[in-house]
Amino acid sequence: MTDQPTVALLGTGTMGAGMARNIAAAGLPLRVWNRTRAKAEPLAGSGAQVADTAADAVRGATVVVTMLFDVESVESALAGARDGLAPGTVLVQQSTVGVAGAERLAKLAAELGLVYVDAPVLGTRKPAEDGALVVLASGPDEARATVQPVFDAIGSRTVWVGEAGQGTRLKLVANSWVLTVVEGIAESLSLARALGVDPEAFLDVVKGGAMDAPYVQLKGKAMLAGDFTPSFGLDGAAKDAGLIVEAARDAGADLGVLELVQQHLARALAAGHGDLDLAATYLEH
Ligand SMILES: NC(=O)c1ccc[n+]([C@@H]2O[C@H](COP(=O)([O-])OP(=O)(O)OC[C@H]3O[C@@H](n4cnc5c(N)ncnc54)[C@H](OP(=O)(O)O)[C@@H]3O)[C@@H](O)[C@H]2O)c1
Repeated sequence: MTDQPTVALLGTGTMGAGMARNIAAAGLPLRVWNRTRAKAEPLAGSGAQVADTAADAVRGATVVVTMLFDVESVESALAGARDGLAPGTVLVQQSTVGVAGAERLAKLAAELGLVYVDAPVLGTRKPAEDGALVVLASGPDEARATVQPVFDAIGSRTVWVGEAGQGTRLKLVANSWVLTVVEGIAESLSLARALGVDPEAFLDVVKGGAMDAPYVQLKGKAMLAGDFTPSFGLDGAAKDAGLIVEAARDAGADLGVLELVQQHLARALAAGHGDLDLAATYLEH
């Protein structure tokens, strides 16, 4: 098929690995690169070519997807890819980098002659593995047809929200909700403990009612079971809290609760829980 994009994906961590498998499964030619090559190697069995360098991965690609930790890691990967990047290639930036970060990357993309699509995602490890992410896409209309096969492979839904940078803004809004909910669950469970109430009883009484949410049961049970296998890593959540608070301050919005959430996540990070799931904030309550 001639209209299929050739894809390069930089960053095969928790999210990128699942995304890569689904891009390959959709039949799109795919090359992957990861700083720690060993993490990318299993993808060879799923039909991706594992490249030694970012430049080798992006050479000849129509679409370059970045799914790295933060803005600095995206900049570093693109610096490594520079020699292989052709002008006109579409950069689909899906890492959560914040408003200022998205602006920095838009400038870098322009310097490199790339078409910039800002497209962070909603969903954690499991939706990434299942190809069920929600893609918050923003950028030039002309790029849509080129990138849509990639979004169809990784997601169950794509929402186009305007010019590049708007996807990142919506992502911060959605993550402010996720972080508030998880911190709220941790606090309600610790309140139950403090009051001598069985914390399970809290999960049970809200179950199925208007106060419930799948996340309440999922993260609440994980907290009580002490199962902190990373799905949404606490280090990433702490980074995102900082990006949300920074964006809110720059925009003149008052986010008092999120500032406290940021402090709680920083406390859990300082306690050494960065490699665990965000639910591990409960350990420090
Ligand atoms: N997990 C989620 O639930 C979720 C959901 C939506 C969006 N996100 C966002 O998606 C992005 C990826 O998340 P993730 O959970 O997949 O993170 P992750 O598992 O921690 O993976 C991070 C990736 O970034 C790479 N990396 C870190 N620093 C780097 C550097 N200086 N240079 C080059 N590569 C570097 C890592 O490479 P190594 O393997 O070499 O360390 C790895 O490939 C983040 O921006 C996150 O906020 C995550």
